[in-house]
Amino acid sequence: MKLPNYQEARSRKKEKVTIEEYQLNNDLKNIGSCKTYYVKTYGCQMNEHDSENIKAMLEELGFEESLEMEASDLIILNTCSIRENAHNKAFGMLGRLKHLKESRPELIIGLCGCMAQEEGVIDEILHKYRQVDFVFGTHNLHRLPTILKNHLDSKKQEIEVLSVEGNLIEGMPVKRASHHKAFVNIMYGCDKFCTYCIVPYTRGKQRSRKKEDILKEVEQLVKEGYQEVTLLGQNVNAYGKDTDSKYCMENLLEDVAKTKIPRVRFMTSHPWDFTDQMIDVIAKYPNIMPSIHLPVQSGSSRILKLMGRRYTKEEYLLLFDKIKEKIPNVSISTDIIVGFPGETEEDFQDTLDLVEHCKYDNAFTFIYSQRENTAACRLEDKTPLREKEKRLYRLNDIVNRYFLENNQKLIGQTVPVLVDGHNENGKTELFGYTDTNKLINFNGDDSLIGKIVSVKVTDAKTWSLDGELVE
Ligand code: SAH
Ligand code: SF4
Ligand code: F3S
Repeated sequence: MKLPNYQEARSRKKEKVTIEEYQLNNDLKNIGSCKTYYVKTYGCQMNEHDSENIKAMLEELGFEESLEMEASDLIILNTCSIRENAHNKAFGMLGRLKHLKESRPELIIGLCGCMAQEEGVIDEILHKYRQVDFVFGTHNLHRLPTILKNHLDSKKQEIEVLSVEGNLIEGMPVKRASHHKAFVNIMYGCDKFCTYCIVPYTRGKQRSRKKEDILKEVEQLVKEGYQEVTLLGQNVNAYGKDTDSKYCMENLLEDVAKTKIPRVRFMTSHPWDFTDQMIDVIAKYPNIMPSIHLPVQSGSSRILKLMGRRYTKEEYLLLFDKIKEKIPNVSISTDIIVGFPGETEEDFQDTLDLVEHCKYDNAFTFIYSQRENTAACRLEDKTPLREKEKRLYRLNDIVNRYFLENNQKLIGQTVPVLVDGHNENGKTELFGYTDTNKLINFNGDDSLIGKIVSVKVTDAKTWSLDGELVE
């Protein structure tokens, strides 16, 4: 049994990261034959992509995917730690699964993802959630087949979580959720240690993949007919900074654009590492989408300092305005936390003021959630939750107004749309995303799914557009 350890998770050692090739041991190959699995994913795209690897590994073991959780032989929860409600959801599900396992004792339950990296969570699993059969962490995804086999042999709770990040594993199998859009990890971990955030503890130190491995993966996707890649990392702009090489994000973006994949997206961009050269590359290549997620977190320089964000309100605005000026039609989205410890009404007003300036195309807004072991836990927090909720409503009112206004400006324009599939309203309605990452619904034929088409915008709502296909 290997348990998570916060002290190790916090340390950033200088040792070089080595690269290992994924290999499946032959005698594990049929441990899942005639059995089904269900993977439930919480959290960000990183987790979604990890689940694509998990699914492919399980299929190599002979398991088949089931669409019905309750009926499957193996259930894996891929969890998220970012806020308390993500925790609550996973624990709620574990409660449900406890009942399921009482009626079907042969059911196998696994847990992985960011919560697996938390000391407190593993403690609870050891003491309160004995129905969980095995746990693996974010650094040893590739060990799933072995850990599962160990559980099947021993019938005991198997917990293997590493807090010092392992090597980079290349060549893991992947079962992609889409046949036209793909996630490509370019780096793992995060060294920023924003004071509210648990990710540097759950995902370890920053480790960039080799450019050759990334480009090989994108080239393969182009050959398979993929239309879009999203380059993933907690801080994609810092790509390469953990290596000796001078090759950095602007070089990688340019090389990915040159593969001729029709659409390139990337996330998430920390404002700190966003260079002028990066802006120039985005502006230069039409296949790099004019859509940037640029989390600000707060509009108060005082709070930004307490958050450890390394920029002031003024520096952020300077970058924001430069991006708007140099990249035609760019849409910018953000993340904002309200109610950070010590945030006053005046600080909050600074956030509202920034939002009035930026008029974001999209914004994800959250109430601060205290995370175990992070530096912000030590700050005094006197604002009542009720007040924080009021601030969130006030903020949402403003951001929503700008989403709608920005969408309304598109009415009458013809925009390129990558068609994703049917929307929930019925079989004739398709949905897709514009180059600026706006959701759009329109009527069209199934054969268009996976293609980039021209759609004229006819109506605008707060979170979506309506349109008509242009023949
Ligand atoms: N790496 C990205 C953020 C990843 S987490 C970045 O630095 O921009 C996604 C978002 O969750 C963050 O941008 C932040 O707004 C929010 N978040 C993270 N920790 C949080 C916490 N403790 N409470 C509330 N929101 C949080
Ligand atoms: Fe968390 Fe900050 Fe790293 Fe983003 S940059 S993952 S918010 S520590
Ligand atoms: Fe959640 Fe981990 Fe992603 S905490 S947001 S799943 S990196």
